[in-house]
Amino acid sequence: MPVRLGDLEIASNLFLAPLAGYTHLPFRLALRPLGGLGLATTDLVNARSLLERNTKSLKLIETVSGDAPLAVQIFGAVSEEMRDAALLLQERGVRLVDVNMGCPVRKVVRLGGGAALLADTDRAARLLRTITSAVRIPITCKMRLGWDAESLTAPEVARALEDAGAAAITIHGRTRAQGFSGGVSLDGIAAVVRAVRRIPVVGNGDVTTPAAAKEMLEYTGCAAVSIGRGAFYNPWIFCRTRAFLDGAELPPEPGFEARIAFMGAHLDRMVEVFGEEAGCRMFRKAAVWSVRHLGPSAEFKRRLGGLRVRADFDAILAHWRAWRTSFLGSDGELLPRFRPLAAKGDGAGEERLRVPSGPHEWW
Ligand SMILES: Cc1cc2nc3c(=O)[nH]c(=O)nc-3n(C[C@H](O)[C@H](O)[C@H](O)COP(=O)(O)O)c2cc1C
Repeated sequence: MPVRLGDLEIASNLFLAPLAGYTHLPFRLALRPLGGLGLATTDLVNARSLLERNTKSLKLIETVSGDAPLAVQIFGAVSEEMRDAALLLQERGVRLVDVNMGCPVRKVVRLGGGAALLADTDRAARLLRTITSAVRIPITCKMRLGWDAESLTAPEVARALEDAGAAAITIHGRTRAQGFSGGVSLDGIAAVVRAVRRIPVVGNGDVTTPAAAKEMLEYTGCAAVSIGRGAFYNPWIFCRTRAFLDGAELPPEPGFEARIAFMGAHLDRMVEVFGEEAGCRMFRKAAVWSVRHLGPSAEFKRRLGGLRVRADFDAILAHWRAWRTSFLGSDGELLPRFRPLAAKGDGAGEERLRVPSGPHEWW
């Protein structure tokens, strides 16, 4: 199903949620050829740093022609800086800007930005109006259900943001106080869908299977779902969910070799974009998520810390393959008792999604 975000038509309503440190250009370039993905969003970028042309911030917004459709996500506490950052992005050809209203970083919250906006509807609306009245491109917002269970402000804030010109709202179905604990509230997402009048709502949180995506769409009435951690555990989630939603035959779960090939392509893009040393270093943490479907991986993880140049990866894989043979049956497949839960078919993939520690625990 296509989704319209302002003047942009996005062909698939399955989006990649931004995960700072993970969903940068190399991952997006490796992911897109697998199919099914609609919109992707950059890691969040500090508006002020962008205006200062900070090298790291400019790197975060790096893209190429095959990396579309793409939104750039910005955060900040000062409306004028947010507006100017959106203008700068528009000048650079960015087609969509997403405003992060869930940022928990104390410096931003103290100044009334990020997650504090959830507790101040008027301020949130004024901030957005400052941006939307200055740019031509669509501006979307990403937020949580509210500050805590006693203050579920998302429906009210979403409605005010719509009036202030937001082209869509993405809602992670947890409160800020929840972090990543507890389940995602589909009722909370549905309340936001009911609150807005015309714009699409993108549901988000804990989608790891085609069935979970379908349930979120059907139960809440949201127009699209965005998938973050689930895309790292299983990059095929977009094409498989697309087929599932379109009533086509569900493509089989990819096997070991296909997943290893994906990791190799991801690492190649990391090296191209960030250089060999930084690319290898940054790849390590993503690789730990990618091997989750592959059964015993202790030896892989143990050696991963030594990944310094591209060729190291082939050596690590060779060692892992040899070590792994003791877990395989005569058919070359993992013996049933070593198969990870997530590989046992749809509906069984609802393992607890692990979250690395850091400020994003509240996004
Ligand atoms: C490591 C990590 C980094 C994140 N970075 C961002 C970010 O830059 N911007 C943002 O809006 N949300 C960020 N989030 C939140 C995700 O976009 C998403 O809302 C959340 O992970 C729930 O979706 P999921 O269950 O599909 O992962 C981050 C989450 C994690 C775990």
